[in-house]
Amino acid sequence: MNINNSTANILKNVMSHNNYLEIEGGEILKGNIKINGAKNSALVLMAASILSRGQINLFNVPRISDVLVMSEILTAMGINIKSSSNQLKINTYEISLPSQDVFFDLFNALRVSFFCIGPLLARFGKAKIPLPGGCLIGSRPIDEHINSLKQLGVIFEFKNNYLSAEVNTPNKRLLGATINFKCKSVGATETLIMAASLAKGTTILNNAAQEPEIIDLANMLNLMGAQIKGAGSECITIKGVESLKGCNYTVIPDRIEAGTFLIAAAITRSEISLSQCEPNHLQTVIKKLELCGCKFEYSKQFLRIIPNKILKSVDINTSPYPGFPTDLQAPFMALMATADGTSKIKETVFENRMHHVKELNSMGANITVKDNVATVVGVKYLRGRVVLGTDLRATAALALAGLYANGKTIVRGLEYLERGYEAFSKKLGELGAKILKK
Ligand code: EPU
Repeated sequence: MNINNSTANILKNVMSHNNYLEIEGGEILKGNIKINGAKNSALVLMAASILSRGQINLFNVPRISDVLVMSEILTAMGINIKSSSNQLKINTYEISLPSQDVFFDLFNALRVSFFCIGPLLARFGKAKIPLPGGCLIGSRPIDEHINSLKQLGVIFEFKNNYLSAEVNTPNKRLLGATINFKCKSVGATETLIMAASLAKGTTILNNAAQEPEIIDLANMLNLMGAQIKGAGSECITIKGVESLKGCNYTVIPDRIEAGTFLIAAAITRSEISLSQCEPNHLQTVIKKLELCGCKFEYSKQFLRIIPNKILKSVDINTSPYPGFPTDLQAPFMALMATADGTSKIKETVFENRMHHVKELNSMGANITVKDNVATVVGVKYLRGRVVLGTDLRATAALALAGLYANGKTIVRGLEYLERGYEAFSKKLGELGAKILKK
């Protein structure tokens, strides 16, 4: 990964629509996949580095385009980042407040860049960044971030697509408060944890999100000197400290990448193993796959899946952790399209995350959607087609369907896939899948 590439080149790469996957379905997979570090942790840990004056050495960082864009955003603030293999050395001694327009494209390219707002307010007392828009999976409001930061003493102004925020307390330092989130939001919980870490006094977050990535953030910040308790529960207490130092930290394994490859094994009825994964973070997914007819063998950071030849249909409702992750809804739907029976899949987290249905149906699946509930009648055969993924997980789901289908499947939308999966086609190819990136 070359952090010194010009921003324009990186964005061009991220936005490129020319690449695609070519898959010849029907192969049985065999072997082991090493799971990378979690995208949704790594990106937030990178934002959290803004809080320290020191050197953050992050290990197990996935080599994906979202990390590249986030690196560019930090570099544009004067932060020195060195990257080698899956390690990032982030030197945050010198940081300057980002001066607006130069960053517009970068911030716009990556929604998670909005998570810089908490650390910027904590460190500089002000921030001005573009408003993150909605995206294809839903409108993705930021009201919970804004309303809770207001309670810590921030005032906001929206003007010309920018959000200007300023800490309005006598010494420009955020003030601890008790926040009752109206909904469980991963991002808002993370923004508040980061902001409150350097606030004056104690912040209590009620109805906090409980995802493993939140525990990862709290663990890293605590190593940096923060005082955060209760991460992973619905109530998190953060006692603000004066400053945070650097640290060495290893990102947790990506549970969504692991879940995607478990489903790849199930859809091809293949036994594979995953190493460097965290089975505890996948309990709900494993239970659903067991109900379908998959067996599992576990040991520390290792998981083996042994699917039956005939898999039964199972219903799922997506919900915040520890519920079934919305990020695996599309891959699980591809699996259910090939199972024996009828499955109901209800998406409750995002209002518009079923674009893959049309594409799966074009491959021969039998799926109807009403009120965000998909009724999936399993079919025996899917056929290869040219399909288009419109978000990260939908694109992965279509590739999995291609592994099962008869004939050749072309999956477009690789620019989404590469935002979140390192070496997706290479890893599957090493297991024996006929899959090429073109
Ligand atoms: N919400 C609000 N107001 C807010 C924030 C969220 O109403 O201010 C709502 C959202 O509209 C949504 C729900 O709360 O209906 C949950 O959204 P959340 O804030 O938890 O999502 P996020 O933080 O924006 C992260 C992941 C997503 C993942 C969701 C849910 C990152 C960078 N992104 O998004 O990951 O789907 O949590 O688990 O951590 C992906 O990896 O493919 C992906 C989209």
